Amino acid sequence: MRIVIGSDHGGFTLKKEIKQLLDEMGFDYEDVGCHDESSVDYPDFAIPVAEKVARGEVDRGIVICGTGIGVSISANKVKGIRCALVHDVFSAKATREHNNSNVLAMGERVIGPGLAREIAKAWLETDYAGGRHERRVNKITQYEEKE
Ligand code: RB5
Repeated sequence: MRIVIGSDHGGFTLKKEIKQLLDEMGFDYEDVGCHDESSVDYPDFAIPVAEKVARGEVDRGIVICGTGIGVSISANKVKGIRCALVHDVFSAKATREHNNSNVLAMGERVIGPGLAREIAKAWLETDYAGGRHERRVNKITQYEEKE
């Protein structure tokens, strides 16, 4: 599984932690920035992550900002993206099983690095359950298609 990751300055430190986790888990990933703690605008990183996932260049994306809100709103504007803002392990698993989320958003100013690692690990390791969820996810896709 190939991953793309991006953050603004508010998520820069947590992104380093999550990249370390990806290394430990043996995932191949691309970091689209930002590359230091200078103040930047979160859509400039969340949208490129989402576009790479939507184009099928990578399997999944991870976006991080201070709250996770700005990056999740931005990523969800890209057609085909189901970005889940997650700050607990239960939701990390549930959004993979139920929503087939393809981008994970987290907020560095909301949770600590230990919990963020557990969330990312659970999200990366959980498969989509399909079945009854397929009809619901398809309704989101169908709505996008008529836009
Ligand atoms: C940056 O200060 C902050 O607004 C950003 O990281 C994020 O929390 C926005 O939703």
